[in-house]
Amino acid sequence: MPEHGGARPSLILGISGATGAVLADAAARALLRRGERLDVVCSDYGELMWHHEMHERFRDATARWLTHGDVTVHRPQDVAAPISSGSYPVRGMLIVPCSMATLGALASGAGTNLLHRAADVTLKEKRRLVVVPRETPLSIIHLRNLLTLAEAGAAVLPPEPAFYLRPSSVSDIVDALVDRMLQALGVIEAPADEHRWA
Ligand SMILES: Cc1cc2nc3c(=O)[nH]c(=O)nc-3n(C[C@H](O)[C@H](O)[C@H](O)COP(=O)(O)O)c2cc1C
Repeated sequence: MPEHGGARPSLILGISGATGAVLADAAARALLRRGERLDVVCSDYGELMWHHEMHERFRDATARWLTHGDVTVHRPQDVAAPISSGSYPVRGMLIVPCSMATLGALASGAGTNLLHRAADVTLKEKRRLVVVPRETPLSIIHLRNLLTLAEAGAAVLPPEPAFYLRPSSVSDIVDALVDRMLQALGVIEAPADEHRWA
């Protein structure tokens, strides 16, 4: 068993193969800006989507992030990585975007890769798990799986734009969603703003 003593607890960022790579990129940058240490695992389809949507290889994105802070990238096949263990010092995990395939693996407990295992450990250790599911419309199977995760203690945060904030760009929408993710992770406080409706 690896030694983890003394390390500053990190946050795990899980990225799967749903549309929304831009959300994961913005979340990673926002967390690093706040001095958070990140353990990152991206599924194979997550990497494919990254290339498709961000016009860069996922490894180039992680190289960018590394210039801003402490990032450890794990291969999804590496189920023996430290984040597989409940004794590894982690405060919580954010999965953004979360595909319906990954959601199903988490809800059934029948995970096959490191992202699934890390989320399973996060739940069993009663740490914060924040899931940003992306699919539309949602089938009854998706809805049941989301309910299962919510019952197990996860925060389910669909990436819905807050139109009442009057966003004028995609970047405004992304930033508002990332704020919600960081609040759900306990990294930042929710603003005491009387105009904040939901
Ligand atoms: C262009 C493209 C877009 C996709 N968008 C979504 C999506 O928004 N939500 C989703 O659940 N799956 C989506 N998928 C399907 C997933 O990538 C597929 O189910 C994959 O097996 C997910 O694997 P993962 O959860 O291990 O990343 C998309 C696939 C492609 C090729």
